[in-house]
Amino acid sequence: MCGIVGYLGGGKAYGVLIGGLHRLEYRGYDSAGVALEGRGGKLKVYRSRGKVADLERLTEGKDTSGCLGIGHTRWATHGEPSERNAHPHVSQSGRLALVHNGTIENYRPLRETLRQCGYHFNSETDTEVLAQLVDYILERGGRSLPEAVKEALGQVEGAYAIAVMERGNPDLLVVARKSSPLVIGVGEGETFVASDATPIVGYTDRVLYLKDNEVAVIRRGKPLEVQTLDGGSRPSLDIQTLRLSVAQLEKGGFPTFMLKEIFEQPSTLTDCLRGRITSDGKRVVLSGVTDNRERFLRARRIVIVACGTSWHAALIGKRLIQQLGGLPVEVEYASEFRYGCPRIGEEDVVVAISQSGETADTLAAVQLARELGAFVYGICNVVGSSIPRSTHSGTYIHVGPEIGVASTKAFTGQVTVLALLALCLGQIRGTLAEEDVERVAKALLRLPETIEETLRLAPEVEQLSKTFTFAHNFLYLGRGYNYPTALEGALKLKEISYIHAEGYPAAEMKHGPIALIDHEMPSVIIAPNDSLHDKVLSNVQQVKARGGIVVAVINKGDEAIKSLADFVLEIPAVPECLTPIVASVPLQLLAYYIAVNKGRNVDRPRNLAKSVTVE
Ligand code: AGP
Repeated sequence: MCGIVGYLGGGKAYGVLIGGLHRLEYRGYDSAGVALEGRGGKLKVYRSRGKVADLERLTEGKDTSGCLGIGHTRWATHGEPSERNAHPHVSQSGRLALVHNGTIENYRPLRETLRQCGYHFNSETDTEVLAQLVDYILERGGRSLPEAVKEALGQVEGAYAIAVMERGNPDLLVVARKSSPLVIGVGEGETFVASDATPIVGYTDRVLYLKDNEVAVIRRGKPLEVQTLDGGSRPSLDIQTLRLSVAQLEKGGFPTFMLKEIFEQPSTLTDCLRGRITSDGKRVVLSGVTDNRERFLRARRIVIVACGTSWHAALIGKRLIQQLGGLPVEVEYASEFRYGCPRIGEEDVVVAISQSGETADTLAAVQLARELGAFVYGICNVVGSSIPRSTHSGTYIHVGPEIGVASTKAFTGQVTVLALLALCLGQIRGTLAEEDVERVAKALLRLPETIEETLRLAPEVEQLSKTFTFAHNFLYLGRGYNYPTALEGALKLKEISYIHAEGYPAAEMKHGPIALIDHEMPSVIIAPNDSLHDKVLSNVQQVKARGGIVVAVINKGDEAIKSLADFVLEIPAVPECLTPIVASVPLQLLAYYIAVNKGRNVDRPRNLAKSVTVE
């Protein structure tokens, strides 16, 4: 998954591009490049392997003038990270430069056809094929750049967000999208394009979200045109107001985005809950549900599709909706759902959970569910992203931009919305007593202060993390609502510290993993005072009996486990169904501090990207 930016205006394009690429680096950062229009019709292209800072070093002392440009930061999908595989790609005739985020599925046959037409390829990328295809159409004559781009895209299968500029034409920028995101910022006498809104913040708050199969033609001094591949055009531009501030994008005094986002959770959960529970705590109001009451009332089950951390939230959502909402729930990895011959129909509700709203596997699952007739409901964070715009309805989690690659505040926001959804379903289906709605709803309203209290564990967790800096393996164990919490804790540790960690249902440990237990294997065991506490207590005993190290996440005052565990992290008590939200916070902190001890880049862990917009 990559990041693209573009600029056409009166200012210096280079500064806008580089600043935008820095803000998009969380999307991918193994190589980067810019193309700038130059005097006398030259295209100036600078590309480098590595991060945007490496690109800046490359351009020092070089000519970076020009008021039209495009830029790209890459997360390799075709061809290893290198200068020759970096974008922008310049066509063989030299007349155009192109950047791309997505995957051209049929690039091989297209490349063969172009080779037979005399084209040579310098890279292993699918993107270069697209650049040469547009070039071939232009060179044949009789087509403007926008027309050539549309004709080329008509031959392309796959996902793309592209920006194309033409040598010797500083007044034209053409962009298009299909399944990969593209936002256009409409400023005063200048236009910005980017994979998401973050590079645009601070320049303009007027944005347009390009839709699938749309091509935008940006001409200096002319109104923005949005056309469709089939020759139509958008009746109205539908310019929206962006509600993001530069401050929201900065680290707010924290050393990393991830730590900022962990500590933001009291305020982000406040935002997430705002307006969704009546002040007396008696009723939950989710417009996405109440506006579609009939579909939910006749639903025979709910199927949740998601990936990664969102899939862990989905597992918790299953328990919440079955217990509080009274509906059977199935949870599927989005990637497995779409290839698993799903038996889905009109009476099913499919819930898609995605922080970015751009995860390719989840987006494809949404599209398949719609084709099969299901009612599709999204739980996403990024407003205007592809998944929310592909569903019938949904609920945004409103936790603000999550920049750290490892999801933290989005996870707690997702589980909170799932709890609201479960309560709302229980209300409209009449399967939940009013006092139960009130009990859980009031605990939700207290969540921000509960998390505030839990975050006071940070110094203790930081100290504890020093014990495990050189651990090689971890086991995370939990039961019921906290089996998914164990999975999430393990994923956090894996993805930012690179230490192998495995989440397991605590009871399952004796069916194999217990063979791993020894004095070098720490086990993090989530053991709140819930209905399964005594069962988990016996799991703690089993680990200790084999010389294992136990870090137990417990409620304050749990002397039974405190007397057994090597280390305890005490969290405030909440209703059992909400314990994952609270218990996940010390696990986020533990992973964070261990990774910092190991000198890892916690905001941009190796090999990972914030949103995986390729299969
Ligand atoms: C979570 O820490 C990971 N970065 C990753 O598993 C992520 O949750 C997954 O890629 C799904 O992303 P989404 O929520 O944006 O769809």
